[in-house]
Amino acid sequence: MKKRSAPPQHIPMKRCHYCLLVFFILSFGAQWATAQSIVKNDQPGEKWWKEAVIYQLYPRSFQDSDGDGIGDLKGIISRLDYIKSLGIDALWLNPIYSSPNDDNGYDVSDYRNIMKDFGTMEDFEALLKGLHERGIKLIMDLVVNHSSDEHEWFKASRSSRTSPYRKYYHWWNAEQGKPPYRYSLFDINHDAWMYDSVTNAYYLHYFSRKQPDLNWEHPALRHEVYDIMKFWAGKGIDGFRLDAFQFAAKDTTFPMFPKNFEKNFTKYYAMQGNLHGYLQEMHKEVFSKFDVMSVSEGAGNSYEDAHNLVDAHRNELNMAYAFEGVDIPKQDGYSLLHFKEVFSRWDSAFAENGWLSIFLANHDQARLVSRFGNPDPAFRELSAKMLATFIMAMRGTPYVYYGDELGMTNAGFTKIEDYRDVSTQNEYKFQKANGGDLQKFMKRIQFESRDNGRTPFQWDTSPNAGFTTGKPWINVNPNHATINYAAQEKDPNSVLNYFRRLVKLRKDNRLLVYGNYTLLDKNNTNVYAFTRESGGEKMLILLNFSAATAQAATGLNQANFELVSSNYKTTVLPKKGTPIVLRPYEALVLKF
Ligand code: NOJ
Repeated sequence: MKKRSAPPQHIPMKRCHYCLLVFFILSFGAQWATAQSIVKNDQPGEKWWKEAVIYQLYPRSFQDSDGDGIGDLKGIISRLDYIKSLGIDALWLNPIYSSPNDDNGYDVSDYRNIMKDFGTMEDFEALLKGLHERGIKLIMDLVVNHSSDEHEWFKASRSSRTSPYRKYYHWWNAEQGKPPYRYSLFDINHDAWMYDSVTNAYYLHYFSRKQPDLNWEHPALRHEVYDIMKFWAGKGIDGFRLDAFQFAAKDTTFPMFPKNFEKNFTKYYAMQGNLHGYLQEMHKEVFSKFDVMSVSEGAGNSYEDAHNLVDAHRNELNMAYAFEGVDIPKQDGYSLLHFKEVFSRWDSAFAENGWLSIFLANHDQARLVSRFGNPDPAFRELSAKMLATFIMAMRGTPYVYYGDELGMTNAGFTKIEDYRDVSTQNEYKFQKANGGDLQKFMKRIQFESRDNGRTPFQWDTSPNAGFTTGKPWINVNPNHATINYAAQEKDPNSVLNYFRRLVKLRKDNRLLVYGNYTLLDKNNTNVYAFTRESGGEKMLILLNFSAATAQAATGLNQANFELVSSNYKTTVLPKKGTPIVLRPYEALVLKF
């Protein structure tokens, strides 16, 4: 690495007084500007969750401790030192509550208990303690747009039209005729109304039949949820991720929606009725009383919706995450221009007010490197590192999904029997029943099924990658022979060790958290170039998203920058005046 510094200069004494004055003005101005940019981006102040790097862990697939083939809490506990070694600040766990697992825990049958497959409440308490001892916070998934059909509330609700729990869910009595069509994301025939002969009525389920939607218009239900939240907050957890919450409020007159509305269902499902009112009530009941952060899955249909969710003055939530960025890649690729436009637009919408989440993957997506990078062995590591640089250098809270720190790739199962995900399985049934092109469908899911992102963590080269001694609930990706923690731990140039360095870089440079973001060379189809800037300090980030060499016309004198990070083993900056030529998937962070 070559460091660049200004050549020593001789300054005559007289001019020096003038210099000092300019220096004081500039440095005072710089401090003032820093303070301003922090205040602007930070209402009402600096928050741990803005500065944190959040690691998302899919408990079913991280580490099995008892040989049943399913990851569990004891398994996570045994890996706490690994989690700590990443340098992250908070752990978000996908749901661990009791569940019949129609949707891997997103169908909760008891909100105050731990799923048997995962362990016991004592295990949970030990996990929380182990995290806190290591200075790591815990964020729990809160799944309250719907429950499981095996929850006691639903059992009572379905038993009789006069049950006190009837109103906890949405029912449509059959004598009124068929209910107005609602689209279900996971149902085998896409119909969100399920007929139930016990009371001759239909119940609503936006997700699977085993996930009936809760009725947020009913005050008793809302207060049950607040009590559940207080139960977990009382145990000392540090935050909630509100699953599908943008869909929770509904117009219970169930008006007819236009034909084909399902093509754009979020417009009709998100941010309906009194959702903001319910969030303000939740704030009053829970968030004002406990020190927990909150993040909503989904940010509505517009920036206004997103702002309204997270504007601190409204007392609703802290953060939301929008899907526009993560949804960009398609089977046939994606355009970097589109990618840059989306991330820059969301950044500018939140530049003055509110706070963003930055993520390129989660448990609802296939693997990041297979979608946004290049899984070809020649480029996998480089592109995984380049994407990690993007996430760590953007403004907003970075969320990193387990396994992406190793550059894990899609498993791309070729047989439908190998898939476990309810939405993949049910969509296959739908396609089959409706004469769909199954070959095309299989190709599509090899690229985009959520199961690609849910295969076991690859610890080592042993038969089940060190995940379990039993039969894993979902197949391990055979490439664990080459992509695994054990090998990467030893290699200073591994994706894993690069990731750790990048987390540290972000933590050591507050401008990467709070500094202003500026997109450069907007029309460059291969390079994403941007600066982060705060109080006179500036970082230039150059990311080559292509497998070819590329250059960026940043308009900056690159000779003034010194190299702080590169994803190649060796990097020598060119001589003064010569533009930087980026190698395939090269990622450079330079400091002014
Ligand atoms: C969103 C979750 O992220 C997803 O995994 C789940 O299937 C649905 N909500 C239903 O809870």
